[in-house]
Amino acid sequence: MTAGLLEGKTAIITGAGSGMGKAAAKLFAAEGANVVLADLNREAANCTAGEIGNTGEVMVIQTDVGEDESVQKLVNEAVHQYQHLDVLLNCAGVPQFFTPIEEMSINEWDKIMNVNAKSIFLTTRHLVPHMKRIRKGSIINIASIAGIRARPGLNAYCASKGAAIMLTKALALELAPFKIRVNAINPGPAETPMLGKFLPGDEKKVEEDKKKIFLDSVPLGTLIQPEDIAQAALYLASDLAKAVTGEIMNLDGGRGV
Ligand SMILES: NC(=O)c1ccc[n+]([C@@H]2O[C@H](COP(=O)([O-])OP(=O)(O)OC[C@H]3O[C@@H](n4cnc5c(N)ncnc54)[C@H](O)[C@@H]3O)[C@@H](O)[C@H]2O)c1
Repeated sequence: MTAGLLEGKTAIITGAGSGMGKAAAKLFAAEGANVVLADLNREAANCTAGEIGNTGEVMVIQTDVGEDESVQKLVNEAVHQYQHLDVLLNCAGVPQFFTPIEEMSINEWDKIMNVNAKSIFLTTRHLVPHMKRIRKGSIINIASIAGIRARPGLNAYCASKGAAIMLTKALALELAPFKIRVNAINPGPAETPMLGKFLPGDEKKVEEDKKKIFLDSVPLGTLIQPEDIAQAALYLASDLAKAVTGEIMNLDGGRGV
């Protein structure tokens, strides 16, 4: 039996209760990692833990990634349990309903920026001292192809993902002397519970618009699967990517070309 790619490593995965975070949690555990599942939705994260079973060590910590105190508690508890943290996968995110800018509320704007962008600052800020101590680490931020290719009506979402991408690059340079790698993945439209939440209308209209607006915008002609993102995150988390930092990987079926 060969060792898993993440044998001996501990990974914090935010948004692990659904979609890409859930797929990554299962894959990372199967590859030998201890996984700390952080999600606002405790029940969903527990469900992911249940699906992982005994493959690896699993811990669930209910976390609001947009709140500093909650993130600090996450990191403290994870360090207490595992002593070293090697991987941070920032996957938690919220969508935006297509909204004209003049109708966008300040509360909604702040929520999207908090969960999609500020959360990367908060998780990194608390985790980096521990990674600096062991002089290694891999931070992976799930941004979006919407961070480099805009769509009308997704003003806050695009801005939040653009911020995630630029923060990834800034941190990659800042943390390189400590052998901490920072990369981002830009998924294209993906088959997760989030996709329908960008669209208004009843179930039938949402399904029609998913095809018209999202599926038809992907040159390869298929929606991205959460497992596609998990595989890329596994590569970036593992030592196979030991020379890779500051990379923004489009995983989008060609949408960004
Ligand atoms: N689905 C897509 O088409 C798509 C495309 C590009 C990028 N993305 C990005 O990929 C990431 C994962 O999205 P997904 O499609 O798997 O979505 P999803 O809705 O399936 O999962 C998102 C998870 O984040 C959690 N979450 C939301 N707010 C949180 C908070 N404040 N604190 C902690 N957890 C919170 C939710 O409970 C949920 O479990 C997101 O950052 C998203 O913006 C998604």
